Amino acid sequence: MSQYLMTEDWGNNIRALVFNNEQAPVNTLGEGPLRALEAAITEIESDSSLQGVVVTSAKKDFIVGADINQIASFKTVAETSSACEQMQGVFQRLSDLKITTVAAISGQCLGGGLELALACDYRVATEGANLAFPEIQLGLIPGAGGTQRAPRLIGIQAALDLILTGKRLKGPRAKKVGLVDEAVHANILKTVALKYVAKKKRKDSGPGFSDISRLATETNPLGRRVMEKKAKEMVSKNTKGFYPAPHKALKVVFQGFEKSLKKGLELEAQAFGELAMTKEARSLIHLFHATTHAKKNPEKDAAKEHYGDLKTNSLGVIGAGFMGAGIAMVAADKGIKVRLSDPSVESTQKALKGAYSFFKKKAKRRRIKPFEVGQRMAHISPGTSPSGFASTDMVIEAVFENVDLKRKLLAEIEAMESDTIFASNTSALPIGDIAKDAKHPERVLGMHFFSPVEKMPLLEIVKTDKTAPWALGKAFEIGQALGKQIVVVKDGPGFYTTRALAFFLAEAALVLEDGASIEDIDKALTDFGFPVGPITLMDEVGIDVGAHVLETMKSAFPERFKTPEKLAAIETSGRLGRKNGKGFYLYENGEKQGVDPEVMTLMGVKPNNNLKTHEIVDRLLLVFVNETAHCLDEGILAHPHDADVGAVFGLGFPPFWGGPCKYVDHLGAKVIVDQLTALAEKYGKRFQPAAALVKLAESEQSFFPEES
Ligand code: NAI
Repeated sequence: MSQYLMTEDWGNNIRALVFNNEQAPVNTLGEGPLRALEAAITEIESDSSLQGVVVTSAKKDFIVGADINQIASFKTVAETSSACEQMQGVFQRLSDLKITTVAAISGQCLGGGLELALACDYRVATEGANLAFPEIQLGLIPGAGGTQRAPRLIGIQAALDLILTGKRLKGPRAKKVGLVDEAVHANILKTVALKYVAKKKRKDSGPGFSDISRLATETNPLGRRVMEKKAKEMVSKNTKGFYPAPHKALKVVFQGFEKSLKKGLELEAQAFGELAMTKEARSLIHLFHATTHAKKNPEKDAAKEHYGDLKTNSLGVIGAGFMGAGIAMVAADKGIKVRLSDPSVESTQKALKGAYSFFKKKAKRRRIKPFEVGQRMAHISPGTSPSGFASTDMVIEAVFENVDLKRKLLAEIEAMESDTIFASNTSALPIGDIAKDAKHPERVLGMHFFSPVEKMPLLEIVKTDKTAPWALGKAFEIGQALGKQIVVVKDGPGFYTTRALAFFLAEAALVLEDGASIEDIDKALTDFGFPVGPITLMDEVGIDVGAHVLETMKSAFPERFKTPEKLAAIETSGRLGRKNGKGFYLYENGEKQGVDPEVMTLMGVKPNNNLKTHEIVDRLLLVFVNETAHCLDEGILAHPHDADVGAVFGLGFPPFWGGPCKYVDHLGAKVIVDQLTALAEKYGKRFQPAAALVKLAESEQSFFPEES
C-alpha cells in the first residue's frame, strides 16, 4: 500500500495492483509510482501462492503517461536514458512474472500507461477507453518499451501508425488492431479481467496481424526494408526535416524488430534520452505547459457568481461574411444555437451553404452521423436584423472593419435593454474605441478569431480597462465551448497577435524594398519553419486589409513603426491578393501560380542579392520577438506563456521553437539583445531592444527559468 498504488486481494489468489495517486486527480508514472510498482512486483515474486495479477486504476483514467515535469528536469542524455532503463526494467519484471498478468483499462491509457499495459500478458479495455502514444507530440518517442512491444504485438505498420501520430484508439478500435484482447462495457471490466487472468500465460506468438496482406511484408526482412524506406520518405515529407522524433522512432522500431527485445529496449532508451535533450522536445514540452496554463479561466469565479450556470446555450452573430459564417458554423457544430444576421441575403445564403458542405464533409468522414447534418444546420437561424439577439449569451459582431459601423451595432444591441455581452471580432480596432459611447462598457470585449475559424485553434480575448471580470469569465467559457485555445490580452492597437504580425509583415515588405526577391523571402521563412511565407500571407490576408492594419500601427507607434512606402503602388494597381486573383503572386481558379513579374517594377525596386537568407530571417523574426517583448512591457500580454500560445496557434510561429519567448530562451536574451542592437543601428528604432529583453539579458535570466 502506498500513496500511489494499492494492492487488493481479488480472490482465487489473484492480486490486483490498483493505481490511485492520492495527491493528484490522475495517475502518472513518476519516480514514486514506479517505486511502488517495483515493490509490489517484488512481493508478488516471493509469493508462490499467487495465481495471477491484474493491473488497474481506481480513478476514471488508467494512467495518463509518464511525469512530464520529471522528463523536463533531466539535464543529460545519460540521465534520461537511465530513467527509461529503470522504467523498462520494472515493466520487464512484470512481464517476466511466472503468473498471468492482465491490464484492466478504463479512461485514458497513454504513453507510459500503455507501455505498462503492453508488458502484461493480456489487456482488457472498456469501450470508452482511449489508448495512445502521445509522446511524438512532445518531440519524443515511447521510452518504456512501447517502440518494441507494440510492433511485436500488432505489427510494425499498425504500431507506427500509433507511434508516429499519437492518435487515440477507443476500446473497440484497439481490439480491432490487436492492441487489446477485449473491449467491454465498463460494468464488466473486472469480471472479464478475471476471466483473462485465469488463462495460461501468453506465449510470445509474434504479431497478431489484423490485416493478413501485411503479414507477408512484415515477416520477411526484404519486405521490412521496403517498408522502412517508404516510411522514411513519408516522415521526411511530413516533418520537412524540422522534427527529429519521427525519424528516431523509425530507426528504433525497425532496428529493434531485427534484434532481441533486450537490444531493442536499449536502442529505445538511448534514442529517448537524445530526443529529450533536443530544442524540439524542450519547445514542445514548453508548449504543453503553456497551453495547460492558458486553459485556466482567470475569471471563472466572478462569472459563476454573476451567472450561476456557465453553460453556453446561444450566440448572436452579426455579419454573415467570411468570419461571421465561420463563427456561426463552429458554434452550431458544438451544439450551440446561433442567430446569424446580415442585411445581405447573399452573404447569409453563402454562409448556410458553407456550413452545410462542412457538416456534410464531416458526415462523409464519419465524424458525425448523417442525421446530425440537419440537426446542426437547424442550430443556425438566419435573419436580416439582430432581432431576438437580446436573449443570447453573447453577441459577436463580424461586420466590415469600420469603427462607426461597429459602434452603431453596439448601440443597437444596447437599445434592446439586454445584459448580453457584446464582443467584436475586429482584427485591429481597439475595443475601447468601439466601446467609446457604450452605456455598458463593462459588457464589451473582443473575441478575435482567426481564419478559417473551423481550422485555426486560437481565440484572442481582448479585455479593456472597463470590461467586467464576470464578462471576461463568461467569454472564456464561451471560447472553450467553441473548442478554442484561448489567450486573454489587454486592449490596444492590434492587441497582441495582429500587432506582432503587422511588424513582421511590414518587415517582409521592407526587406522586399531592399531588393530581396519575393521567392527568397517566402522561402527563408518557410525554411525557418513557418507554414507559409510572409509575402504569401499578405496575399491571403488581403493587401488592402494589410495596408489598413499597417496604417493603424503607424499611428499607434509613430516613433518606431516603419511603413513600407512602396507597398501602396501594389494596392493602387488593384492587386488585393488571393481574393481577386492578383497580388504578389498570381492565382488561377483559386490556385496559386508563380510570382507576378510586374510587382517589383510597380514598386520601383530592382531585385539584388544583397541580403543573405539569415539576414532576412533575423530581421523578420527579431522584429516579431521585440514587439512581443513590448507587449509584455505594456501589459498587453500578462505572461510570456500567452505570447507563445498566441504566436504558435494563431500566427504559425514554428512550434519546434516554442514561440517567440521560448526562442529568446533558446538563444539567450543577451544574444537577442546584441542582435537587436546591431539591427537598430542599421535599420532603426523598431529594433531597439524592449525593456523586458534588456532586463532579462542584464540579469542573465530567461523567460521560463523553471524550464531551464
Ligand atoms: P466580410 O466582408 O467577409 O464580411 C462582412 C459582412 O458584414 C458582410 O457579409 C456584410 O454584408 C456584413 N455587414 C455589413 N454591415 C452589416 C450590418 N449592419 N449588419 C450585419 N451585417 C453587416 O468580412 P470578414 O473578413 O468576415 O471580416 C469581418 C470582421 O472580422 C472584420 O472586422 C475583420 O477585420 C475581422 N477579422 C477578419 C479576419 C479575416 O481573416 N478575414 C480575421 C479576424 C478578424
